[in-house]
Amino acid sequence: MAHHPRVNKISENSDNLICIHMALLPILCYPDSRLRTVARPVLAVDARIDQLVSDMLETMYEAKGIGLAATQVDVHERVIVIDVSEERDQPLVLINPELVWHSEEKHLNEEGCLSVPGIYDGVQRYDAVRVQALGRDGAMQTIEATALLAVCIQHEMDHLLGRVFVEYLSPLKRNRIQTKLRKAQREDAR
Ligand code: NI
Repeated sequence: MAHHPRVNKISENSDNLICIHMALLPILCYPDSRLRTVARPVLAVDARIDQLVSDMLETMYEAKGIGLAATQVDVHERVIVIDVSEERDQPLVLINPELVWHSEEKHLNEEGCLSVPGIYDGVQRYDAVRVQALGRDGAMQTIEATALLAVCIQHEMDHLLGRVFVEYLSPLKRNRIQTKLRKAQREDAR
């Protein structure tokens, strides 16, 4: 999830879109069809997953994002990294996250996404959530989240189900966003 407006480079052909090349792992750009892939559970939190987590954290920090799902770097396993702290020093790693509780209340929050550069719009999310997930050490953890962290967790968990936040917007807005991102990609290719 992106928090602040930023400039991204977009290129590649029409259904093979990369938002950010500079980061360690290239980030897929909406409407790349790979973003619709449903991620499978991680079977073992091993050295390979630890390396993936390291690479995803480095990529997220470099891209100045506050959250990144493995789906966005074309790895279709249930891994999320998040850091909503001001100091960018409180990484949260969620492996195989499951939503075990949510508040009744939903609120409209402005969201952005590293896979949808320059676009910010309102999405309804639960005010509070409780999530169980494995940590980087493979131990089960329970996370109680409110405010920005709750929004970010819901946004990233959607990625693992192949859902990008713009899919909650009206078809008109969605089409406009697709047109804009494809145009930006064409201009970048020139
Ligand atoms: Ni996102």
